Amino acid sequence: MTKPIVYIARQLPAIATQLLEGHAELRQHAGELPPTRQELLEGVKGCAGILSLLSDRIDAEVLDAAGPNLKVISNFAVGYNNIEIAEARNRQIAVGNTPDVLTDATADIAIALLLSVARRLKEGERAVRSGEWTTWEPLGWMGLELQGKTLGIVGMGRIGEAVARRMVGGWGMQLRYTARTTKPLVDAQLGGRHVPLAELLADSDFVSLHVPLSTETRHLIGAAEFELMKPTAVLVNTARGEIVDQEALEGALRTRRIFGAGLDVCTPEPLPTSDPLLKLDNCLVVPHIGSATLAARDAMAERAARNLLAGLAGSPLPFAV
Ligand code: DGY
Repeated sequence: MTKPIVYIARQLPAIATQLLEGHAELRQHAGELPPTRQELLEGVKGCAGILSLLSDRIDAEVLDAAGPNLKVISNFAVGYNNIEIAEARNRQIAVGNTPDVLTDATADIAIALLLSVARRLKEGERAVRSGEWTTWEPLGWMGLELQGKTLGIVGMGRIGEAVARRMVGGWGMQLRYTARTTKPLVDAQLGGRHVPLAELLADSDFVSLHVPLSTETRHLIGAAEFELMKPTAVLVNTARGEIVDQEALEGALRTRRIFGAGLDVCTPEPLPTSDPLLKLDNCLVVPHIGSATLAARDAMAERAARNLLAGLAGSPLPFAV
């Protein structure tokens, strides 16, 4: 019997291919960079499964290129804004993602960014390297304290809650959050208050974004929102770059409308080295490494492979979108 063909859009932790081998013919994109559009369209031809990454746009054109054999798209990420879900559903193609296993890793990066920006680590480290550090400076590199301050979580899902638990537990922070519905457990255990976005922005010393990217959340934080924030506020984004209007952010940081920003995600990715954000001392940008721990990436690879196997077998996906 011929095996179904699976297109894998990048090199992944070995567990992914180990689980798939024997069940499918693997057609894996080589190299460290994502497939070009043309390579993707070619690569998926005749496939029954696609293992995609957030850098691969999976839309009607790709589904057409794959053809009628396609049964499952398994995204190696918790976010799936790169996939046209309605299009896949219309064609009865199952779609899966990798929730839960990257929650802790991503929450840790949000806090690393928050602390680094609050305590100006980027500027301090640069001063050490450049020789600007000449003495212990009583007035130098002064930052912000966290203890007892107010944390605003925009999007109280799994990752938002993991950040809130760390910050409330570790730094005794007051918690405000936005969410579709009130979270009674968060309110009871963490003293959370479910508030409108404008109230959260006005009250919070630290604002961390955890909403998925959609048409409603694109540019959720723009010039009007920065106007509501405290001049001492820090913004952290570990969700998706497009949630923030980046031009407005650059303006807010340059004019010190807010204290600083820590970004694991941006628009575009990678950010061109000429981007004005990179000229600002109060902006720290890291290369979308929220889930980049060995444990998280292995577990993501395993979930992505299990979703694919289930989809190929025509069974419900263990982690369906
Ligand atoms: C995701 O999973 O959506 C992250 O952005 C990458 O791990």
